[in-house]
Amino acid sequence: MKRAVCPGSFDPITFGHLDIIKRASAQFDHVVVAVLENRTKSSLFTVAERIEMIGQTTANLTNVSVDSWSGLLAEYCKTNSITSIVKGLRAVTDFDYELQMAQLNLQASGVETMLMATAPAHSFLSSSLVKELAHYGGDVSSMVPPNVDTALKLRVAGK
Ligand code: PNS
Repeated sequence: MKRAVCPGSFDPITFGHLDIIKRASAQFDHVVVAVLENRTKSSLFTVAERIEMIGQTTANLTNVSVDSWSGLLAEYCKTNSITSIVKGLRAVTDFDYELQMAQLNLQASGVETMLMATAPAHSFLSSSLVKELAHYGGDVSSMVPPNVDTALKLRVAGK
């Protein structure tokens, strides 16, 4: 059984993430969407809130599950017998960072990283941009699923 992980901070999940998760689920027997800590970013949603939003938006994908981990991604892969990491590559600006992480994870645990080209419609999309827009009352309904749109509106309103 080929198991892959789609790791990320998913703060919050966007249509760009969903596109990668769906396409990965067509290539592997099972895909785990793992919410991990990115120490360079501060978060708007708790891990539990992010897991709930991801669960709701991936409920139709029968071979996808959601999990969280507070350590190294390489350790998560080893512990869960996962042999592939799948990540989206939006533009050349993502490349240096993703290559470095892929090489580090390969060295740390022998896990392979598949960098999947983001669909052009999502190449500009990021959770940070979505949060910035939402903060100023911008319309993000074309960028995130409806449950995330609602959660963002509530969070921005201080709820
Ligand atoms: O969505 P992001 O924020 O780009 O995802 C980055 C993430 C969470 C996948 C990355 O920061 C990560 O793997 N964090 C877990 C700790 C780890 O393994 N760090 C890399 C080696 S130092």
